[in-house]
Amino acid sequence: MSHEIVEKNVGLMALIILLVISVGGLVEIVPLFFLKSTTEPVEGLKPYTALQLEGRDIYIREGCYLCHSQMIRPFRAETERYGHYSVAGEFVYDHPFQWGSKRTGPDLARVGGRYSDDWHRVHLMNPRDVVPESIMPGFPWLADNKLDTSLTQKKMRVMNMLISATCNGCETYTDKEIQDAPAELKGKTEMDALIAYLQGMGTSITSRR
Ligand code: HEC
Repeated sequence: MSHEIVEKNVGLMALIILLVISVGGLVEIVPLFFLKSTTEPVEGLKPYTALQLEGRDIYIREGCYLCHSQMIRPFRAETERYGHYSVAGEFVYDHPFQWGSKRTGPDLARVGGRYSDDWHRVHLMNPRDVVPESIMPGFPWLADNKLDTSLTQKKMRVMNMLISATCNGCETYTDKEIQDAPAELKGKTEMDALIAYLQGMGTSITSRR
């Protein structure tokens, strides 16, 4: 019996399992590349400004994603707490995306505009000054570190490449925006950049509510 042959031959079984799984995977993944809702930006979504782009990199460097997700699931418990659930078109400018999977702290997908810049400044210096029970660590050095802009233009060009390759109807940075970026970021601290990034989070949808 052919079934017996498969069961008695580990190599063959592994091969067939692999084949079945990859067909299943392809059927789920391939259509996503052609669906408009996953490759087009939601209305009003803008590319990260140069300052926000640098802030995103500080967010990654400091490991904020290890405690914070940026992905609100479509469940009542989540939408009541955080706001509108996340949709694919909000992430077209995220390379790499920061969805995360760990929530030691709250989800940040819609934190933009929820607090003032000053609140974030105090909170990032020492969270317990505004949230007494907080277990989030402080990041005071961000206020002292001047932003390193030596790679900003390169990062914007790479973003342009990634955006053009993956997104329909997305804006890319103009040559002038790229040229002006280092001058625009002059004198800014890492804290400024991180706060600009936080204040933009999820606002293309929150501002419509
Ligand atoms: C060890 C885990 C941990 C890390 C790392 C961490 N946080 Fe937090 N964060 C928390 C916790 C817990 C809270 C909830 C208490 C509070 O507001 O301080 C929080 C709250 C926040 C809030 C307020 C959210 C809201 O909706 O009230 C923001 C904004 C925030 N964190 C940003 C950051 C940023 C930016 C970084 C990286 C520089 C970071 N966090 C790193 C644990 C963490």
